Amino acid sequence: MSVIKVAILGFGTVGEGVYRTIQSHAQELEGVLGKRVEVAAVLIRNKHKKRNINEDVLVTADFNEILSLPQLDVIVEAIVNKEPTFTFLKQAIQRGCHIITANKEMFAHHGNELLELAKHHNVSVGYEATVAGGIPVIQTLRQLLNVNRVHHVQGILNGTSNFILTEMREKKQSFVDALSLAQAKGFAEADPTNDVEGFDAFYKTMILSRIAFGEEPNWEDVEREGITSITSELIEAAERLGLRFKHIASISKKGDQIKASVRPVLVGKSHPFYSIEGVENAVNVYTDLVGSITLQGPGAGMFPTASAAIEDLVYVCQNKLTKKYFTKTPAIHLRDKKEHEDELWIIQGLTKDYNNPLITWITQSSAETAIIRTNTELIKQLISEQNIKCCFQILGEFEIESNDKEVTLAAI
Ligand code: HSE
Repeated sequence: MSVIKVAILGFGTVGEGVYRTIQSHAQELEGVLGKRVEVAAVLIRNKHKKRNINEDVLVTADFNEILSLPQLDVIVEAIVNKEPTFTFLKQAIQRGCHIITANKEMFAHHGNELLELAKHHNVSVGYEATVAGGIPVIQTLRQLLNVNRVHHVQGILNGTSNFILTEMREKKQSFVDALSLAQAKGFAEADPTNDVEGFDAFYKTMILSRIAFGEEPNWEDVEREGITSITSELIEAAERLGLRFKHIASISKKGDQIKASVRPVLVGKSHPFYSIEGVENAVNVYTDLVGSITLQGPGAGMFPTASAAIEDLVYVCQNKLTKKYFTKTPAIHLRDKKEHEDELWIIQGLTKDYNNPLITWITQSSAETAIIRTNTELIKQLISEQNIKCCFQILGEFEIESNDKEVTLAAI
């Protein structure tokens, strides 16, 4: 029987997960591919570290040794940083290898070039593991929603951030302790700044945007905020109102413009993301034909991420070429929608004597915390002109739980 030879670049959480899964699921892989899958080589950085890798596997710190192997069919890349990863993957494609990557930063920056190069060399690129861990969101959008026109996508895309917010709320952990635990569990990036400042979710959002809309917004126009400003006091205050903080990426197409943001928002019980807890991720896609679909599952960790890479292994070995990935969707004009849609916001520092016909006051407390309905443009204006201490958008419908209809985020 012929063999598919694989090299794994990196032997951290994801690389090791892929290695172990190729061993543990050899039978399934052989069943679906009709060939045995064999790990021929592993690229490591530190030669002296002890690893549980079979003796017949080439373990090297020199990528050229891997490229010179007599047979090499697939490269699974699970290292961090844009370089030298991008260079390695270009060389692999030029050699005729299919590639699979879990590196969102590199793929957000260089994905288009890799896909073009792969097309030219008649090989495939799998990147399911770059977005939302084990949730098969890329294949769902790419294979199963080809004709549907996507209107918007919302997602909890960073497992570490969601894990920290959940630990802080449920177990009253400090931010620092919750982050340490996320690191110990292998959820966080090598540099966790990428997780907690929203960069990781931002890269994933740009990758999703290309698949959902065939294009991405201007990166400079995307509002990106992490979870570092969310204190335990804020989380508790929100909970008293029946709300939870979630770090949410949103992408939508209005007319022919793509808009995106990555930031903490509040969600009420009726929102599909309210119960997405711990390291879970979720992606909600709204399209013209099917309407709203929500996918949820583990967003980080060894085997969930390995699952995405292994399913990609099957995908690339069946060599489904990538030519229709980035078809630009037509301009979307929703009937019955105002140009500036009204949204629900909780805002502190705005008194009711501030008169503006574009604001509907839902409730106002003595602590100057109000829930208002207005649009993002006005919120931006208020932040720049008024003494606003903080404000968060509330997604979905929300009913105030306290009897006296008075809200307070006095902890802010
Ligand atoms: N650090 C990432 C996260 C890993 O927490 O979501 C998965 O991409």
